[in-house]
Amino acid sequence: MLFDLEPKSTKADLFDFEMELNSVINGITNERIIVIRGLRRTGKTSLMRVALNESGYPYIYLDPRFPTRPTQSDFAKLLERGIRNLLKSSGSLIDRIKEALSEIDWVRFTIAPLSVELKPNKMRRIGITELLDSINDLGSELGMPIVIAIDEAQELSKITWINFNALLAYAYDNLKYVRFLLTGSEVGVLDRFLKVRNPQAPLFGRYIRFINTRRLSPDESMEFLKRGFEQYGIKPNDELLMLIVNELDGVIGWLTYIGHQLAVEGKRSLDEVLESAIELALGELRNFLTGRSARYRILIKQLTVKRNWRELKSLIESAEGKALNDKSLYVLLKELMDHGIVEKVNNEYVLSDPILRRAALRL
Ligand SMILES: Nc1ncnc2c1ncn2[C@@H]1O[C@H](COP(=O)(O)OP(=O)(O)OP(=O)(O)O)[C@@H](O)[C@H]1O
Ligand SMILES: [Mg+2]
Repeated sequence: MLFDLEPKSTKADLFDFEMELNSVINGITNERIIVIRGLRRTGKTSLMRVALNESGYPYIYLDPRFPTRPTQSDFAKLLERGIRNLLKSSGSLIDRIKEALSEIDWVRFTIAPLSVELKPNKMRRIGITELLDSINDLGSELGMPIVIAIDEAQELSKITWINFNALLAYAYDNLKYVRFLLTGSEVGVLDRFLKVRNPQAPLFGRYIRFINTRRLSPDESMEFLKRGFEQYGIKPNDELLMLIVNELDGVIGWLTYIGHQLAVEGKRSLDEVLESAIELALGELRNFLTGRSARYRILIKQLTVKRNWRELKSLIESAEGKALNDKSLYVLLKELMDHGIVEKVNNEYVLSDPILRRAALRL
């Protein structure tokens, strides 16, 4: 159902994005590193999940959204979940996968119930290399790529004791059957995680396939809503649909949310529904601001309209009554873009969607 709030995982539930989907599947078939990048709520996770299911390749899915500073045992749990899902989704391949991975001394399987346990203290860089080698051997034996899918890959940068950059470069150069499918914001994945634009970094200059999620056009938004409501046997009037389309600027996550509120939660008025979306976005902004410098709040409140560098600099300076150096402003804006909250359009910065902009006014 199009208005289901979970990220989609089947092609039947994925609206549009046919070209992008084909490009991701083609990418994991032919390339080593594939990145789905885009702003918040534009369908990155959905595209990744559908591509994984459609491709039919075995995959390890990691969602490393750690709440705080992750420990070794947090990382072990993340990998455990990933391997468990690999086993669960691997059907007849399960025994071959178990066999390949049980060569690693820090991986232990139990049969009933089927489970995998990792010993965190052995999982340093060398350990992970070993895991990647085994995955590659497995792929070679099966004659197909094995995908390591990392949602919001930049979150892994919070793990400081493993050099993921070097690991990926190693896999890129040596492991023909290992594929990395990553999602995230442009700044987050490219600059924070892969560091591909840094000439000193191990992955500099490697070819990476990019697929961008995007905003829907007004026509596509309209079509999405009509089809979504139709699945519930509802036919809202065109005027209401136009209003929603105009409010949401083609962000598919918000269209889904609003559709869900109206069709499933039984809310009646657009105002009521928008109100709950704004509250949701406000909660996320507050979450983001917790524990961060007060400057972020100043910036976010100013970015409800497009602002250029000079304006932002002087706005913070006048709020604080002292000079701000360029480096500091650069770091602040980068962090906001890293989270997909702010985008840069023609040298101007702005909050990336209309609901966020409305929420920011309430901060
Ligand atoms: N192509 C699509 N067809 C139908 N629904 C979609 C599509 N893409 C995204 N959605 C819906 O939009 C919402 C956001 O999608 P998703 O979580 O995939 O986006 P995201 O870019 O990963 O978001 P986030 O930035 O929060 O990680 C979800 O409710 C999802 O079901
Ligand atoms: Mg996502």
